[in-house]
Amino acid sequence: DKGGHKHFMAKEIAEQPVAIDRALRAYLGSEDGRQLPEDLDFTTVDRLTMVACGTGYYACLVAKYWFEQIAKMPVEVDVASEFRYREPPVSPNTMGLFVSQSGETADTLAALRYMEGKAAQIVGLVNVQESSIARESDVVLPLHAGPEISVASTKAFTCQLVILLMMALKAAQQRGHPLPDGLPEDLRALPGLIHQCLSLDAQIKDAARDLAKAQDIIFLGRGVLYPLALEGALKLKELSYIHAEGYASGELKHGPIALIDEKVPVVVMAPRDALFEKTVSNMQEVMARGGKVILVTDAEGARVAGDGTHEIITMPQVPDALAPILYAVPAQQIAYYTAIAKGTDVDQPRNLAKSVTVE
Ligand code: M6R
Repeated sequence: DKGGHKHFMAKEIAEQPVAIDRALRAYLGSEDGRQLPEDLDFTTVDRLTMVACGTGYYACLVAKYWFEQIAKMPVEVDVASEFRYREPPVSPNTMGLFVSQSGETADTLAALRYMEGKAAQIVGLVNVQESSIARESDVVLPLHAGPEISVASTKAFTCQLVILLMMALKAAQQRGHPLPDGLPEDLRALPGLIHQCLSLDAQIKDAARDLAKAQDIIFLGRGVLYPLALEGALKLKELSYIHAEGYASGELKHGPIALIDEKVPVVVMAPRDALFEKTVSNMQEVMARGGKVILVTDAEGARVAGDGTHEIITMPQVPDALAPILYAVPAQQIAYYTAIAKGTDVDQPRNLAKSVTVE
């Protein structure tokens, strides 16, 4: 049942405020006392190894910034298909964290089994509670996203981010580091903020009509928005079959800038955070070479850096740590509406399966 939507993907994008609210209620600690499981313990470990595939991997890359900056914890992130065969040494003080919507991804499960017996604790962050990864983890954190039918992962990704941020806050507390101003209280505003982002789809439809004509599209982001550039590019190629790449905007001049001309649209994800100025100067290098920029930023960002851009998508103003969660929504909608403009099969893109149970 698509609940009145044209596609499961549209339904699942629209469900994000409710799904995130459910994840917050399950773990944030409220009057009814529910919070992250007690056996999720950061006092006995001194490093974190996160392993996943696809969109789950990008959620881990975002979480690396959070765990490093907020909890001052060394973090390694890898794609499961590389990790499992690299024979990485695992110190006994490591927490292994496996992120998977389905809980059945073959490579992620094999990576988990590789760490079993070597790591201090195996933690599974899964949407499907009766899955192999859930069964084989010491501690399981269900995403509470609700069933995700569309091949493209949307609400599972934002729920992964929300829970990973809560985990980073717990790690900070247990390791004796102060929490960033406003957190965790600001998390409670997320469902409402996501709801506001959903109404930006009219602007995104306009941008998507242009994007659908392109052969190559580049996504740029910096800091915690860099993994969002990767996720935006993955979603777009999965759904519209347009070649797309995400880059850390600071890497632009080390190669990718050679691709820029008036035919290559560049989506820049840049909330007005501490790195904004730097991202904007990378964006200006793109515009100076004729690149058409679609800038995703907040009102203040649009005011100071909007000149000369092709299109601006104006997001709500948010605390820095929450930005990647909110910027997931335009990344999803850009892919969705570009696919609609191209007429591809949104829910069941060619060559892809929802759950990849073979390597
Ligand atoms: O079920 P999992 O989270 O383990 O799946 C991992 C990837 O196969 C998955 O995220 C894939 O990249 C999606 N199609 C992304 O939209």
